[in-house]
Amino acid sequence: MNILYCASEAQPYAMSGGLGDVAGSLPKALNARGADCRVVLPLYDTIKPELREHMTYLANFTVPVGWRNQYCGVFTAEHAGVTYYFLDNEYYFKRSGLYGFYDDGERFAFFSRAILEMLRHIDFAPDILHSNDWQTALVPVYLNLYYRAEEKYSKIKTAFTIHNIQYQGKYGLEMLSDILSISEENAHIVEFDHCVNFMKGAIEAADKITTVSPSYALEILDPWYAHGLDKLLREKAYKTCGILNGIDVDTYDPATDSYIAANYDVTNYSEGKSACKKALREQFNLEQNDMPVLGMVTRLVSHKGLDLVRHVAEYIVLSGIQIVLVGNGDYMYESFFNELAAKYPGRVGVYIGFNPELAHRVYAGADFFLMPSKSEPCGLAQMVALRYGTVPIVRETGGLRDSIKDSGDGMGNGFTFNSYNAHDMLDSCLRAKTGYENPQGWKILVERAMNCDFSWNTSALSYMGLYEEMKNLW
Ligand code: GLC
Repeated sequence: MNILYCASEAQPYAMSGGLGDVAGSLPKALNARGADCRVVLPLYDTIKPELREHMTYLANFTVPVGWRNQYCGVFTAEHAGVTYYFLDNEYYFKRSGLYGFYDDGERFAFFSRAILEMLRHIDFAPDILHSNDWQTALVPVYLNLYYRAEEKYSKIKTAFTIHNIQYQGKYGLEMLSDILSISEENAHIVEFDHCVNFMKGAIEAADKITTVSPSYALEILDPWYAHGLDKLLREKAYKTCGILNGIDVDTYDPATDSYIAANYDVTNYSEGKSACKKALREQFNLEQNDMPVLGMVTRLVSHKGLDLVRHVAEYIVLSGIQIVLVGNGDYMYESFFNELAAKYPGRVGVYIGFNPELAHRVYAGADFFLMPSKSEPCGLAQMVALRYGTVPIVRETGGLRDSIKDSGDGMGNGFTFNSYNAHDMLDSCLRAKTGYENPQGWKILVERAMNCDFSWNTSALSYMGLYEEMKNLW
């Protein structure tokens, strides 16, 4: 089974969020199960020189972008048993970051078309082209429009994964011919709501649509979650499914993690975790007392549920729970947390920024891990927290609902609440605190959390099954 995994980011080369984690770990897991899954990425300027050093040049060609032809070079490298291809065009990718430029639509239309052109120049014939999120959503669209007639492309099947439906790649219709090379009679494929919508194009064109948890696959049929695409997705429900992401259990392993103050595993966690908690408190100047620490590692954007936290954060602090937050994003939330830390020194610690090292220290050093998301397609942090014995407190949505069960019945691995309501969230935090105050019960819960298996074991098999099914679709 040959799969080309098309993504705009993958660990360790380029990463801004969960997609980077998944694209960096799923292909490895598929290859361990006998697939030949390769990954194609843009050759971003931000890729570290030590990784660049291992790349070798393969070929170059031109890619049609409207009426122009743009240069594209292909480099390749191996990492953790996975072959990567990097598409080079300095005009598009020699920039200071991955996204956020005025011409992102053009940059990723170029990238998607270049992936298809690349197949003429490399020694790899995929059975499946698997694209992800709006940045590579035009891959199945272009395949059908411009390449199907050629033998090499005629049998390729396409999968498209929605990691977050909020980001659809919406642009003005004037892009159609000059930039996207899509003529008026084909405009309907990508046109939605008087805009060009990249994600809509993939939903139309791909053979299978997947999303990153079974619950999210149902939620996106509902207007509350779908950012306008619910009706279309209901029509396409026959080809849609949800497969829960896994995490890379080598990267996130408290037994070997070099970022944290002490290593531990489920058989001897108590001392190691206490040392990590002590170190975390020292780093954030928090009081060393017998209260629990609640950790958050998150982008500071509204769908992460931060309005709930804003509403009741002081009640949490006044209950004695300490808060540590690592993240960045909207100014409104950044300033809220900075002010909270200023008001409650010794009880609240805040780091505004994206810092993987510090994130690991929060996973290891906190007692609770809070994710009150308004929507959460999958969420990986709650799975990481479990592995580090940090008990998740989550809202029952998307992948949070599929991975965390309330421990109220003596069986679950965390604390959950259902409504998007600040006081329900507060109640879950206080229930967690009550749980924490009973050391024997808490030990059982922490051990149960650490014994959960959210490696790719099960999910990689589901993807293999899906690809097999797709191969025989037509
Ligand atoms: C997006 C989603 C997140 C998911 C990740 C990987 O970042 O917001 O919930 O875990 O993609 O699929």
